[in-house]
Amino acid sequence: MHHFQYINDELFCENVPVRQICEAVGTPAFIYSRGTLERHFRIFEEPFLPVDHIVCYSMKACSNIAILRVFANLGSGTDIVSGGELFRALAAGVDASRIVYSGVGKKASEIDEALKAEILMFNVESEEELHLVNQRAVALGKRARIALRVNPNVDPLTHPYISTGLKKNKFGIDVERSLELYGRAADMEGIEAIGVDCHIGSQLTELSPFLEAIDRLKEMIGILRSRGISIQYLDIGGGLGIPYDQEEPPAPSLYGTAIVDRIANLNVKLILEPGRLLVGNAGILVTQVLFRKQGPEKSFIIVDAAMNDLIRPSLYNAHHAVWKVARKTNGVNGRIVADLVGPICESSDFLAQSREMEAVETGDLLALMSAGAYGFSMSSNYNSRPRAAEVLVDGDRYFVIRDRESYQDLIRGEHIPPAILQTS
Ligand code: LLP
Repeated sequence: MHHFQYINDELFCENVPVRQICEAVGTPAFIYSRGTLERHFRIFEEPFLPVDHIVCYSMKACSNIAILRVFANLGSGTDIVSGGELFRALAAGVDASRIVYSGVGKKASEIDEALKAEILMFNVESEEELHLVNQRAVALGKRARIALRVNPNVDPLTHPYISTGLKKNKFGIDVERSLELYGRAADMEGIEAIGVDCHIGSQLTELSPFLEAIDRLKEMIGILRSRGISIQYLDIGGGLGIPYDQEEPPAPSLYGTAIVDRIANLNVKLILEPGRLLVGNAGILVTQVLFRKQGPEKSFIIVDAAMNDLIRPSLYNAHHAVWKVARKTNGVNGRIVADLVGPICESSDFLAQSREMEAVETGDLLALMSAGAYGFSMSSNYNSRPRAAEVLVDGDRYFVIRDRESYQDLIRGEHIPPAILQTS
C-alpha cells in the first residue's frame, strides 16, 4: 500500500497534487511519500519486534540523506557498500554503531574511514579483504568486528543480474572456505569475528530461498560455536521483492514470521538489510510528454525522462506502471499501445515498451510508478542531462530534498589544461 492515489482523476502524493509539485520544480522529478516510507518500515519491522534485531536499510536503493534520516528517526541503521555511502549515512545522522559495510571491493582508505567511524561490522567477502581489514585495524590500533559473507549457493529465482547467492556469482565465500577462514580470523590481532552474513539476491518473490540460506547459515553457526568461535550476529541481507506488475511476493509479515520461527533458540541478534521493500513503492518518477510520433511499426511517446533517470527498464527489462497525472475516466481519450521513450540517443532508451494505456497528449504529465528504489540512485548524466530533482511529500507539505542539477553542475571539476586552451 502506498500514498499515491487519484482524487477526482488527479494524482496526489499524500495530500499534495503531483501536478502542483511539477509546476514548481519541473520535470523529470522523483517524488517520495514520507508516510509510505514510514509505513513500509513499520510493516517490515513488525514481525521482528519480539526478537533482538537491527534493520539496516540498504541505502544503495535510494541514498538521499533526507530519506536516510526518515528511517534513522525510526531507529534504522544502514547497510553501506562504499566510503561515499558511509559519508552520506553519517551526514544524515545515522548511528555508526548501526552500520554494516558490505561489498566485494573495499579500498584501504574506505576501510580506514569505517574503522574510525566505529561501525558495527564489516561483511567481509574474500580472504584478501580479511587480511587487509586486519592490517588496517592493527595500523589504527583498533579491532574490526566482522562477519564473513557466506555464499550459500541458493538459487534466488530472480533476474540473473540481481542474483548474488550462487556459486558462479562474485559475492561472498563458499561455506567450506568460510569455515576455514573463521579459524584463521581467530588468530588475527585486528579481527573480532562476531557474525555470519549472507545476501542471496534482490526482488525475490519466493520465501523458500531465504529459508534455505538461513538453514545453511544456522548449521555453520553451530559448527563455529563448537569450535569456540562465538557468533552473536546473523545478517540475512535484503532481497524481499515488491509488486511492480503481476508479481505476488510474500507479504513482509509472512517473510518476518517465517524467519523469526527459523531462528528461534539460535541466540543471535538478527540484522536485516531491506532496500527495495522500504522505498520502491514509496517513490515515483514524473515526466512530461514532449512529442508523439507514429513510426511505420510502432507508436512512440517521447518524454523528458530517459534511461539516465531510470535505467531499470533498459537494464533488466523491468516493468514500471505508467499512470497519467490527470486521467480521464470517461474514456473520451480512448486507449493506445505505445513505447514510452526518452531523448537519449540509444535504442535501449525506453521506459516502457508496447504498453497499453490511456491516450496522451503533448504536455501531459506521466508518473512512472514504483521508481523509489534503484531509480535516482542509479541515475547518471549520460547525454549531459542534469539529474532530476528529488522531492519529499509530508502530508500537505512538500520539500525539495535534492535540487535539479544545473548545467554548471555538469562541468564541475572539469578543467581544460592550459596547453590545450592555447589555440595557436
Ligand atoms: N544487502 C546487500 C549486500 C545487497 O547487495 C543488496 C542489494 C541489498 C542488501 C538490498 O537488496 P533489496 O532489499 O533492495 O533487494 N539495481 C537492481 C537491484 C540491485 C540490488 C543490489 N543489492 C534493481 O534495480 O533491481
